[in-house]
Amino acid sequence: MNDTARAFRDLYGQPSHGVWAAPGRVNLIGEHTDYNDGFALPFALPHRTEVAAAPRSDTLLRLHSAASDSGVITLDLATLDPAHRPRGADGWAAYPAGVAWALREAGLPVGGADLHIRSDVPTGAGLSSSAALEVATGLALTELYGLTPTRPELAALARRAENAYVGVPCGIMDQTASACATEGHVLRLDTRGPRHDHVPFDCAAAGLRLLVIDTRVKHDLADGAYAERRASCHRAAARLGLPALRDLPFEELDGALGRLDDPVARRRVRHVVTENERVLRVGELLGAGRLRETGALLTEGHASLRDDYAVSCPELDLAVTTANAAGAYGARMTGGGFGGSALALIDAEAEPAVARAVTDAFARAGHVPPRITPVTPSAGAGRVV
Ligand code: GLA
Repeated sequence: MNDTARAFRDLYGQPSHGVWAAPGRVNLIGEHTDYNDGFALPFALPHRTEVAAAPRSDTLLRLHSAASDSGVITLDLATLDPAHRPRGADGWAAYPAGVAWALREAGLPVGGADLHIRSDVPTGAGLSSSAALEVATGLALTELYGLTPTRPELAALARRAENAYVGVPCGIMDQTASACATEGHVLRLDTRGPRHDHVPFDCAAAGLRLLVIDTRVKHDLADGAYAERRASCHRAAARLGLPALRDLPFEELDGALGRLDDPVARRRVRHVVTENERVLRVGELLGAGRLRETGALLTEGHASLRDDYAVSCPELDLAVTTANAAGAYGARMTGGGFGGSALALIDAEAEPAVARAVTDAFARAGHVPPRITPVTPSAGAGRVV
């Protein structure tokens, strides 16, 4: 029995039937491409959300989170409806409630359950704490009821919960990374399909390290900027007569830009098309074991997100420029942006120097101290106990 299972037993007065876990993710590269049918290279973090669960004989869903003081929230699966979210299904509880709703709506007959949730994935840090919660809940509920959706199906249902129930118009990247990643690999995701494979990324063997620099600037995807970027990409694709911006080949970018008269739309399109190209090149470099050479593409990706896509912020820019000046091979913001975390690829022995340089620069600029954590590509979701 682990801590989550013990807390479950103390809370509900009976043992759980299992504990399931799903990780947060970092995206190596491929940002704001997933809702354009494009490419991304995320990997799973060692940080995870655990869900201890037991089935019930009725249709009640009882939810408890170690991170919240809202106590046990009781909902009835039979009445869950995104148009009329019950009181108590707001905030964090909307995520597990939304997953239960999405599963049932897809014809997966999950019944009532008691859940206790515990997570060490930082929230609001651009590291997909939401996807971790959704995927861990989905895995727990389906396994409790002997249902066996494939991992990509589980990811799609978790995304549906977030889109249709929670109301965040995210793409498929985070949930796929959490559900399908494998240790020691980045997940090479083609969001059209979607399809994925696993590319080895053994930093330690190459003497490298990946640092996550959490700026502690809270981002909130529910705010309109993400939806606005998404809508402007879809409008631009329609204007170009394409199903999605993924269908604009890199070689045809300049010609296409000439056919768009809105300068903002031109910049958004340029980001998406060049970013897809960078993902493909990074994927090839990783496949060839040329890990250090990916760094320049990471930094180029950051500049594109900052200048063309306009989703960075001063703290992310400072983290990137400082890490690079202190010897990183490359660095970029990761996730949706507007705050959250940056990622830097460095020599393992450079970690203290890079961490110190970034911390000092943040102090000099008067920013909140960043949280700097070395990470390794870790396992996707699974049963823990
Ligand atoms: C958030 C969304 C993802 C993706 C990224 C940007 O993490 O949840 O679907 O769009 O932003 O790449």
